[in-house]
Amino acid sequence: MSLLTTTHVCPTEISIILNNRIRRWLQNPRKILGPYIKEGMDVLEVGCGPGFFTLDMARMVGENGQVVAVDLQEGMLAKVREKIRRIGTGLNIVLHKCDEDRIGVSGNFDFVFLFYMVHEVVDKEAFFRELESLLKKDGQIYIAEPPLHVSKKAFEETVMIAGKAGFTVVDRPKRFPDKIIVLKKA
Ligand SMILES: C[S@@+](CC[C@H](N)C(=O)[O-])C[C@H]1O[C@@H](n2cnc3c(N)ncnc32)[C@H](O)[C@@H]1O
Repeated sequence: MSLLTTTHVCPTEISIILNNRIRRWLQNPRKILGPYIKEGMDVLEVGCGPGFFTLDMARMVGENGQVVAVDLQEGMLAKVREKIRRIGTGLNIVLHKCDEDRIGVSGNFDFVFLFYMVHEVVDKEAFFRELESLLKKDGQIYIAEPPLHVSKKAFEETVMIAGKAGFTVVDRPKRFPDKIIVLKKA
C-alpha cells in the first residue's frame, strides 16, 4: 500500500458520465484510437473504468491481439464484464484488478492507453517506471487528461515525471478540450 496521500478516484456510482451516447459522439473511440491500434496488437489499458474504450479496442486488435484492461475498482471491472457478457464475446479481453501502487500485470505491450486516469494515480513516478518495463521497445503510450481536473502545469509535471522514467514525447495531438500526449521509450 502506498504511503503517499490518496488522490480522488472517480467513483463507480457516476460511471454513467463515462459511458453514454453523447460521449461516444464527442470522443468516438475508433476515431481516437484509429491512428494507434492495429490488428494483432497487445494493448494495455490502465484505468479502464466502465470500459468506454475497452470493447472497441478489442475489436480493433482482433483475434490475434489482446486487450488487458486494468482498474483499481472491482465495481468498474464488473461493468466491463457485464458489457462483454451482453455481446456474447469473441473478444480477447483480460480484466485485472490492480492495487493503488502497482499495476501488477506481465507482458510486453505494443500500446498503452491511459485516458482520464493519470491524475488519479498517487505515485506517478512508480507508475511510469512500471509502464516502462511493460512497453515494447517501439511501443507507444497515449495519455489524455481532462481540462477541468488537470491544469497545464500539472499536465507538464506528469510529462516530466514520465520523462524521468524513460519516456520521450512523440506527439501532442490536439483535441479540444483535452490535454493529450503520445510517448515512447527514450
Ligand atoms: C475518470 S475514470 C476514466 C475511466 C476510463 N479511462 C474512461 O475514460 O472512461 C478513471 C479510472 O481510473 C481508475 N484508476 C485510478 N487510479 C488508478 C490506478 N492507480 N490504477 C488503475 N486504475 C486507476 C479509477 O478506478 C477509474 O475507473
